[in-house]
Amino acid sequence: MDFQINDIANPKLYGDPARLQSFYAWLRAEHPVARAEPEGFRPFWVVSRHAAIREIERQPEIFNAGPRNTLMPIMVEQANRQYFGFEAGVYSLVVIDGERHQELRGLTQNYFLPKNIRKLEALIGDLARQYVSRLDDLGGACDFAADLAFWYPLRVAMTILGIDETDEARMLHLTHELFGSSDPDIVRPGMTQAEHLVAVNQDYVAFFDEVTKDRQANPRDDVATLIANGRPGDRDMTPAERMGYYIIIATAGHDTTAASIAGGLKALMDMPGEIERLRADRNLVKSFANEAIRWTAPVKHFFRNVVEDYELGGVMLRRGDHVMLSYGAATRDEAAFEQADMFRLDRGLNNHLAFGYGPHMCLGQFLAKLEIEAFFHALLDKVETIEPHGPAIYTEAAFVSGIKSLPVKYRLREKDGLTEPTGRPEIAAAQ
Ligand code: HEM
Repeated sequence: MDFQINDIANPKLYGDPARLQSFYAWLRAEHPVARAEPEGFRPFWVVSRHAAIREIERQPEIFNAGPRNTLMPIMVEQANRQYFGFEAGVYSLVVIDGERHQELRGLTQNYFLPKNIRKLEALIGDLARQYVSRLDDLGGACDFAADLAFWYPLRVAMTILGIDETDEARMLHLTHELFGSSDPDIVRPGMTQAEHLVAVNQDYVAFFDEVTKDRQANPRDDVATLIANGRPGDRDMTPAERMGYYIIIATAGHDTTAASIAGGLKALMDMPGEIERLRADRNLVKSFANEAIRWTAPVKHFFRNVVEDYELGGVMLRRGDHVMLSYGAATRDEAAFEQADMFRLDRGLNNHLAFGYGPHMCLGQFLAKLEIEAFFHALLDKVETIEPHGPAIYTEAAFVSGIKSLPVKYRLREKDGLTEPTGRPEIAAAQ
């Protein structure tokens, strides 16, 4: 195919997964450290191999996470600077470096450790069954993404954060608006992308300011209370730090997990016999869930900012340069994974980079795995057959993207005992 490095910034590429994977393969093979200079964006390097991304993430003192952290048009960066004082718009954990990052991460880190996530197993199992039981009322066909996959991880994230179910639809809409701002279906009518993002951020601020007031007056056992009242490093959080914290917890966990669930199901449906194999051997659900995350790599990239000159794979990166870490490409790197372009639900060692690596490695990784495992246990208990019922549609977005519509038809298991859960091995968090 006829590719150019600058295609990396074209949202349409992400709406066409086959083309995207060919593009990534071309990058890894021929341009592993490539210079991109797409119109409307500041130039940057694209790094696509697994080993090179680890090399970078292992050295956070040379490769800072901020200030440039994701791919945004110059217009958006300028609007963010003007309205919020910094180019990323949202000042969250992922753009903060050094000691302050550790202090802020430390505020909620314990909550997300495997031993604590394991305490949520029953709750998450119940939510998984509750959302999967929506299939009872959908008449044998549905949009698996829009009817189920989006909602379940959202409820989990909102439960942890402490946001009422009545605000859920609003939160889902804001997340889609934040991550999908380059998708013409999503941008607010009559607004430029920059105006749209500023408006979305202002809506978040209005919403979470109320949450802060409430949790300061009425503390509860939830993550919002930690954020509202926390004093990491023995000092108050700035309003931007606090807002960034709410937004990352409210957004990072559900769209990504939903994309892995929908993409994992699509992969299963595309491989004849694999659903039956997974149902017959529930021990495979754990490796299946992690493979679904590798396969979908919902977070396509983060950026790093070069603090001192560094030679990477024979290319000189200069102080002040910016580097895109292409997790999307690295998760299919043949040098890191056997049969990298095959979905293998029994893949053993699977040290993919879909959760990143180093000091910013995903805080919610154990939760995400637990959620996906619980969901597929519930689904396998519920459906006898499930198959595609129209083409899957993918979000056109270069940062977080995945399936936004997955038409399926299905047949539920008979009520003759087949609906009984068939055994639930221990969860990912127990590892
Ligand atoms: C399949 C699901 C998920 C994927 C693919 C994913 C991916 C990522 C990636 C790539 C990073 C940045 C890592 C780096 O810079 O090296 C990250 C950070 C983060 N994720 Fe996730 N994530 C997922 C689910 C979750 C969940 C469920 C939560 C929980 C609320 C969560 C919360 C966070 C937070 C708070 C950070 C920032 C950590 C830091 O900068 O210190 N994520 N995630």
